[in-house]
Amino acid sequence: MKAIIDTDPGTDDALAIAMALNSPDLDVLGLTTVGGNASLADTTRNALALAEWLGRSELPVSRGAFRPVRGSFSYAYHYHGPGGLTVRLPRPSGAVMPLRAPDYLAYMAYTHPGELVIIALGPLTNVAQAIRGEPRMRKWVKHLYVMGGAVHVAGNVTPHAEFNIYSDPVAAGEVLGSGIDTTLIGLDVCGEPVLTPADIEGSDAASAGELLAREVVRGWFALRPDGDRYMLCDPLTVAAAVRPELFEHERAAVSVETEDGDRLGKTTARYGEGSVRVARAVRAAEATAVVKEMLAVG
Ligand code: BDR
Ligand code: CA
Repeated sequence: MKAIIDTDPGTDDALAIAMALNSPDLDVLGLTTVGGNASLADTTRNALALAEWLGRSELPVSRGAFRPVRGSFSYAYHYHGPGGLTVRLPRPSGAVMPLRAPDYLAYMAYTHPGELVIIALGPLTNVAQAIRGEPRMRKWVKHLYVMGGAVHVAGNVTPHAEFNIYSDPVAAGEVLGSGIDTTLIGLDVCGEPVLTPADIEGSDAASAGELLAREVVRGWFALRPDGDRYMLCDPLTVAAAVRPELFEHERAAVSVETEDGDRLGKTTARYGEGSVRVARAVRAAEATAVVKEMLAVG
């Protein structure tokens, strides 16, 4: 499956990228970056550094949006660490490609019509801009896997909103309403598949992906000494692309609240219609095992 990962690394993005690059089922053609967990400069540096660390220095990295459609991003350095990652990877030697992310996404969808999946792990600004600029994206993109939303559970930024959707609700509304076949991995299924300190300390990390995951998550636990559950939102979204049977889905039309107020960024599903498969349940233990396995290969 040909895939582009749109991402704001971000600790869990880093694990998700390692999994995707390891996967024999995914042919990752490039990474597109967006501000979100950290500034665009940081997320882009991290994407380049991750590709190099994982032995894929040739992987195209395209820089995208530094701000959402409206307003500005509120970064999450407190959660992901200084620079957006809890580890400082070596300075990348590669450079971003000259094409900006929305144009790169549209170009790649045009080049691989009906074949390309986009795995979106950050605010949806780049994807929305790609669709605005090239509406034929709607028929070219095979499937979108989106990490975002809190449909039946509380949000993690406000009681109503999850971080990626809250960061750019206008873009999220446009993308989820675009008609592109989409799988939505929201906080509804992110609560249970977790890594614990025992998972990390018990592993004899051997591969680059495992080493990365161990250092990133170890760093995360060090940053938050009271935290003992590392949530796997972005990794689960990559898992959903290759192991959809781990989830129970229900088809819906999903709308996003874009009006300022306490419900800003809320995702609402109208079941029985629409182009979005909302993940409503996950087999948590199996999903955690799949994440670990996907990190280990390579
Ligand atoms: C999402 O927000 C970010 O902090 C994570 O990387 C993930 O994509 C979870 O709400
Ligand atoms: Ca992310």
